[in-house]
Amino acid sequence: MAGVLSDLDSVAKEGQVAVDGAATVDELRVVEAEFVGKKGRIGGLNRLLGNPSLTVDDRRAAGAAIQAVRDELIARVEQRRAALASAERQARLGSERLDLTEVTLDRPRGHLHLVNQARNALEDVFIGMGYVVAEGPEVETDWYSFEALNFPVGHPARDGFDTLYLNLGEPGTMLLRPHTSPVQIRVMQAQAPPIYAVMPGRTYRKDTPDARHNPNFQQIEGLAVDRGISFGDLAGTIDAFTRAYFGADIGSRLRPASFPFTEPSAEFEVACVICHGAGCRTCSGTGWIELGGCGMVHPNVLRAGGLDPEEYSGFAFGFGIDRLAQMHHNIADMRVLNDNDIRFARQF
Ligand code: PHE
Repeated sequence: MAGVLSDLDSVAKEGQVAVDGAATVDELRVVEAEFVGKKGRIGGLNRLLGNPSLTVDDRRAAGAAIQAVRDELIARVEQRRAALASAERQARLGSERLDLTEVTLDRPRGHLHLVNQARNALEDVFIGMGYVVAEGPEVETDWYSFEALNFPVGHPARDGFDTLYLNLGEPGTMLLRPHTSPVQIRVMQAQAPPIYAVMPGRTYRKDTPDARHNPNFQQIEGLAVDRGISFGDLAGTIDAFTRAYFGADIGSRLRPASFPFTEPSAEFEVACVICHGAGCRTCSGTGWIELGGCGMVHPNVLRAGGLDPEEYSGFAFGFGIDRLAQMHHNIADMRVLNDNDIRFARQF
C-alpha cells in the first residue's frame, strides 16, 4: 500500500511538471497520453490495486487517491491546452495579419495633369488681381458662340474656327464651343459691371493633331467691363499676368490683329521662355512667342450681353492653356499632353 501511494505521489509530481512544460498543443497531447491515457502511468497504478496483499479498505483508499490525482491532472491538461491554443492562435493571427493601410501608404498618389496645373496657376494669378473665375457649357449654341460675338451668319471668320457641329435641333444651331469667348456673353448677362472675370474650360476644333494642335484643348478667357476701361489697361493687364506667371523677366507685346468681337484687336506675344528674348530655334530667332488674342470689347458684343456701349467699355483676351504649358516647359510635341503616357505625366 505504501509503495502504491509513493508511486502515485511521484507520478503526480512528474505529471504536473510534464503538463506545465509542454510547449505546444501537440506536445501536450503526448504528455496527456503518457499520464492519463488508457495505457498511461495512472492506469498502471490502478492495475497495482489488484495485488492480493491489499485489504478492501486499503484498495478503496488508494483507488480514491489515484482518482483524485487523475482528475487533478486532467484539469491541469485542459487548462494548459486552452492557454497553448490561444497563444498559437494569436501567433498565427499575427503572422497572417494583412494591414491594408500599410499597403496603400506605399502606393504612389496621382497628381493633376500638367494642363490642369497650368490652369490652376493661371486662376491663382488672376484671382490675385481681383478677378473671379466663371464657367460656361462646352455644348453651346451658334448664337453664343458666333452671333452674339459679332460674327453675322455667313461671316468668313466663322470658317477659321473649324467648328464641330452637333446633330441636335435645327442643323447648325448646336456645337462644341471652339473657343471660350461665348462665356463672355453669359457673364455679362449674369452680372452687372464692374466685371473682372476669367473663364477657363475645354474647347473643341476639327483639327488634325500635330505638334502644335489638339482637337480638344483648354482655353482661358478674360473679360473686364467697367466705366472708362482703356486699351492701356488691357496692355498693362497682359504684361502683369505674363510676368506673374512666367517670371519678372518675361514681358509681353501686342501686334495688330483682327477678331469680329474686339475692336481694336491684337495678338499678344510673350518673351521666349527658352532664350529670354535673345532669339533661338523655339521662337524662330525673333525672341517672341505668340500666345493669344485680345482687344477692346466690340460695342455689338456689349449690346448682346445687355450692356450700353455708351456707358461701359471693356477688354477681353483669350489663349490656349495647353499652348501655354507647352511653352512653359518647352514641350516639342503637343500630342503628348493627350497620350496618357504615365512616363510623361510623372515628370510634372
Ligand atoms: N477667342 C479667340 C480665339 O479663340 C481669342 C480671343 C479672345 C481674342 C478674346 C480676342 C479676345 O482665337
